Amino acid sequence: MTFDKVYQYNFPTTIRFGAGAIKELPAYLQQNNLEAPLIVTDPNIAQLPFFKSIIRELEHKNISAEVFQELHKNPVKSDVYKGTEVWDNTTRDCIIGIGGGAALDVARAIALRINHREDLFKYDDLVGGDIFVTNEVPPFITVPTTAGTGSEVGRSAIISDDETHQKKILFSPKLLAKIVFADPELTMDLPPFITAATGMDALTHNMEAFLAKNPHPICDGIALEGISLIKDSLEIATKRPDLQSRSKMLIASIMGAIAFQKGLGVVHSLAHPLSSLLDTHHGLANAVNIPYGMQFNIAGFEDKFRRIARTLELKEETGEAVVNYLFDLNARLNIPHRLRDIQVKEEHLDTLADLAFADFAHPNNPKPVSRDDFKTLYTTAL
Ligand SMILES: NC(=O)c1ccc[n+]([C@@H]2O[C@H](COP(=O)([O-])OP(=O)(O)OC[C@H]3O[C@@H](n4cnc5c(N)ncnc54)[C@H](O)[C@@H]3O)[C@@H](O)[C@H]2O)c1
Ligand SMILES: [Fe+2]
Repeated sequence: MTFDKVYQYNFPTTIRFGAGAIKELPAYLQQNNLEAPLIVTDPNIAQLPFFKSIIRELEHKNISAEVFQELHKNPVKSDVYKGTEVWDNTTRDCIIGIGGGAALDVARAIALRINHREDLFKYDDLVGGDIFVTNEVPPFITVPTTAGTGSEVGRSAIISDDETHQKKILFSPKLLAKIVFADPELTMDLPPFITAATGMDALTHNMEAFLAKNPHPICDGIALEGISLIKDSLEIATKRPDLQSRSKMLIASIMGAIAFQKGLGVVHSLAHPLSSLLDTHHGLANAVNIPYGMQFNIAGFEDKFRRIARTLELKEETGEAVVNYLFDLNARLNIPHRLRDIQVKEEHLDTLADLAFADFAHPNNPKPVSRDDFKTLYTTAL
């Protein structure tokens, strides 16, 4: 690690964390004179008992929520526009995102759109659009219901173009939640597949953040502890969940997202095109690709892999041992080893390699990744 300029490190979000934290939501709204939230969730979560119970608790305090739930699995711009119409047509005073990364990203993008009415992608961070995020956003609160993306503590929303399916990033420090209610009880009934896939996303965040090239020892420490918590809890949370394993996974996913303000890497760039092109779940796409991406990164970074191996308490403190651990973990979680098992075909590989090379995540990878490297990685993983 070399320090060679002035860096900025930010850790400002208030997180209420622990079983029962969600019960504090109505009182928080009352204390802040908020009585008409727009709740953004997905159609599946809107049917779950815990969601109905949150609405009931709000009603008991005379807080009447308007629920917007029309969003895609990999959210698109029109989802954000529809949600903004609900805000416009009703009198709302705050936005609460309740859900996994998809719902939280749409909630955040709606919060942005309320006071920024140019085309949504004018604010795309990749083309410098963050400078146009100049107005305030309404009070924004997040409630995670998966333990994966950590979007609840993020300051970006990933939204795809309806036609091209290209992922855009809306980014601004103004998009941070005012407060996060992170209650592991809400994740107790996550099905095993979603637990495993979202948990592997959290592991990928922590590992890629630790390896990312910018010097950031604060994030490095958080990332290693996140990896350790996931080692201890992901398999239990998937197979026989209890409150402790759910709690560890939820805090580890938050830590992953805090750590990846340092940057991500090759695995996320391999994963993003699978979601854009084939609608693959984000966590699953990372899970299948992470062993291959980590293998690619070992040479030249043996010391960093030694620290990951030590954190995972592996017998051999090498990058290869880390890669083997990842293959084994995927096997234990019933996640396939091969891209062909998740609907990828040989004819997709060129397009995937083009999209991966254009992706925003790999410039922070510890070593450069060329378009040919992406093609080789996909071919190896097929
Ligand atoms: N903003 C960021 O920093 C960031 C980072 C990574 C990924 N993302 C985005 O996040 C999205 C993926 O998020 P995700 O992995 O959380 O998945 P998700 O939000 O798509 O949720 C996965 C599934 O789990 C269900 N679900 C959620 N909570 C549940 C619960 N408590 N019980 C039962 N079912 C539940 C949902 O209805 C959905 O069907 C992608 O759109 C991705 O682009 C954002
Ligand atoms: Fe991710």
